[in-house]
Amino acid sequence: MGNNTISSSIYSVMLLAISMAACVSTFAVPSSAKSSSSSFSFSAEAEALLNSGCDLASSTGEIPFEYSSGLTGGIPVEIGTLSKLTYLDLSFNELRGALPTTLGNLTQLVHLDLMNTYIGGPIPSTIGNLSALAHLSLSSNKLNGSIPPEIGNLKNLVKMDLGFNNLRGPIPSSIGQLSNLTYLNLEGNQLSGSIPSSVGHLSNLIYLYLTSNQLSGSIPSSIGHLSSLTYLNLSSNRLCSSIPPEIGNLKNLERMDMGFNILNGSIPSSIGRLSNLTYLFLSSNRLCGSIPLEIGNLKNLEEMNMSSNILNGPIPSSIGHLSNLAHLYLHSSQLDGPIPREIGKLKNLVEVDMSHNNLHGPIPREIGKLSGLTYLALDRNDLVGTIPNELASLPYLEYLDLSQNNLSGKSPYKLSENMMITDVLDARLLPPTNPIVAGDMVLVATMAFACLHPQPKSRPSMLRLSQEFLSRRKALAAPLRTVSLWNLWNQKMDFVHQSNEQVISAQV
Ligand SMILES: *[C@@H]1O[C@H](CO)[C@@H](O)[C@H](O)[C@H]1NC(C)=O
Ligand SMILES: *[C@@H]1O[C@H](CO)[C@@H](O)[C@H](O)[C@H]1NC(C)=O
Ligand SMILES: *[C@@H]1O[C@H](CO)[C@@H](O)[C@H](O)[C@H]1NC(C)=O
Ligand SMILES: *[C@@H]1O[C@H](CO)[C@@H](O)[C@H](O)[C@H]1NC(C)=O
Ligand SMILES: *[C@@H]1O[C@H](CO)[C@@H](O)[C@H](O)[C@H]1NC(C)=O
Ligand SMILES: *[C@@H]1O[C@H](CO)[C@@H](O)[C@H](O)[C@H]1NC(C)=O
Ligand SMILES: *[C@@H]1O[C@H](CO)[C@@H](O)[C@H](O)[C@H]1NC(C)=O
Ligand SMILES: *[C@@H]1O[C@H](CO)[C@@H](O)[C@H](O)[C@H]1NC(C)=O
Ligand SMILES: *[C@@H]1O[C@H](CO)[C@@H](O)[C@H](O)[C@H]1NC(C)=O
Repeated sequence: MGNNTISSSIYSVMLLAISMAACVSTFAVPSSAKSSSSSFSFSAEAEALLNSGCDLASSTGEIPFEYSSGLTGGIPVEIGTLSKLTYLDLSFNELRGALPTTLGNLTQLVHLDLMNTYIGGPIPSTIGNLSALAHLSLSSNKLNGSIPPEIGNLKNLVKMDLGFNNLRGPIPSSIGQLSNLTYLNLEGNQLSGSIPSSVGHLSNLIYLYLTSNQLSGSIPSSIGHLSSLTYLNLSSNRLCSSIPPEIGNLKNLERMDMGFNILNGSIPSSIGRLSNLTYLFLSSNRLCGSIPLEIGNLKNLEEMNMSSNILNGPIPSSIGHLSNLAHLYLHSSQLDGPIPREIGKLKNLVEVDMSHNNLHGPIPREIGKLSGLTYLALDRNDLVGTIPNELASLPYLEYLDLSQNNLSGKSPYKLSENMMITDVLDARLLPPTNPIVAGDMVLVATMAFACLHPQPKSRPSMLRLSQEFLSRRKALAAPLRTVSLWNLWNQKMDFVHQSNEQVISAQV
């Protein structure tokens, strides 16, 4: 990178562009050629370019021709003379510089990809002259200034990606004129102002990503007109309205993320009409009211995150219908009422976090049926009663926090006596093979359990502990893998003295 002189890179760009114009006007590149670029022949010009020593890499992705051998020095103003160019992809080159206004001369351009080329400065308003453009990607650059309203002239645009730049100012309302748009990504800029209600005209839109900007104001109710919308991500902005009930019209929605805003009001019950929804993220807002019962209609939901709001009322028992739910995060709100027993029907649950609410009543035994559970946080609630034994038999449970409740009874681990000691050892280490090392380990564990036992056979004194540790080391009589926690708890361990093989019953 960076070795080419500016003049040679201008020459390269020009030559490349010319060859592309020739190629594209000669070959309509079918989408079937995407993965097998070798299946179509190059024009004489392209071959000459290849022979000239320029590394014109054949494409493996979406791009028929890709030039990524370290072009530097910016896009020359002379690009404007290539008025017949239909396809220009200079992505992943270190071009730097700014976009020349003469770019607007390429009125036949259908595909413009300048992703990841370090270009800065503003997007010239002449971009609005690229009336044939269907695919525009300027993402992952340093573009600044605001999005020119003329962008609304690109009537044939299907995909627009301006993500990850430094664009400021409002989203121009002219964007609503792009009626063929299916993909709109403005993520990771500093766009401000509100989302123009004209976005509701983009009836072909499938992807709408406005994440990580400084958008404020309300979510326009016109968003409910986007009947093709499948992916909606508005997270990490400053949106401060309630969620419009019209959101329920987005029948094709699969992923919805409005997290990390300041949305208020209650969650509209119409959300229950989004039957294709798999991800629902509303966390870190100021949503209040209760979780609508209709949430139970979202049969395809796999992950629900409504944490860090001010939701109150009970967790609806209809949650038991969400048979595909794997991740349920309702922590840090003001939910009250009991944990619904119906949670036991959610056989696919892996992680549950309901911590830091006002939940009361007992922990339902049915949670013990969730055999895939790895994470269960119910801490900082007002739960009462005994800890159900069933929790102890959850085979994959790795994280359990029941603290800061009013629970009584035994720790579930008391009941895990049928676990083997080898199950609780650090899995990253090989279990000891030396029977003396195994004996030491079992002795320490047995004495630790004796100290915890409410009715131990004998509670070891400090004197006894030190005597045990200082006495002649004993080997374990049986292989370590046969030792269960029950054996340790009940001090039913046999040791042999190394010297005389005498079996002694460990009565520590
Ligand atoms: C742009 O195109 C016009 C004709 O449409 C031409 O006169 C002009 O020279 C071109 N500009 C550049 C910079 O090539
Ligand atoms: C906009 O980008 C150009 C080119 O990278 C830079 O020189 C200029 O300082 C930037 N302006 C702002 C306001 O960031
Ligand atoms: C190109 O765009 C500019 C700015 O939008 C406009 O003033 C100019 O008339 C356009 N040129 C052509 C040839 O359409
Ligand atoms: C949208 O796409 C269709 C077909 O793909 C095309 O006929 C039409 O001209 C495009 N532009 C607008 C503004 O609808
Ligand atoms: C939901 O998803 C299915 C399968 O992916 C699809 O056939 C259907 O059109 C989508 N929309 C609705 C409203 O069910
Ligand atoms: C929304 O975008 C953010 C930032 O890119 C990402 O972390 C999050 O996973 C996205 N949400 C969904 C539901 O895909
Ligand atoms: C939500 O916040 C906005 C802006 O702060 C405010 O105007 C509106 O009254 C609030 N709505 C509710 C239901 O609290
Ligand atoms: C759920 O939302 C919280 C914000 O309240 C966030 O910190 C957490 O990472 C989210 N959890 C997952 C698994 O996405
Ligand atoms: C804890 O629960 C017991 C009954 O199980 C009850 O008597 C006591 O008042 C509760 N304490 C608090 C702080 O809620």
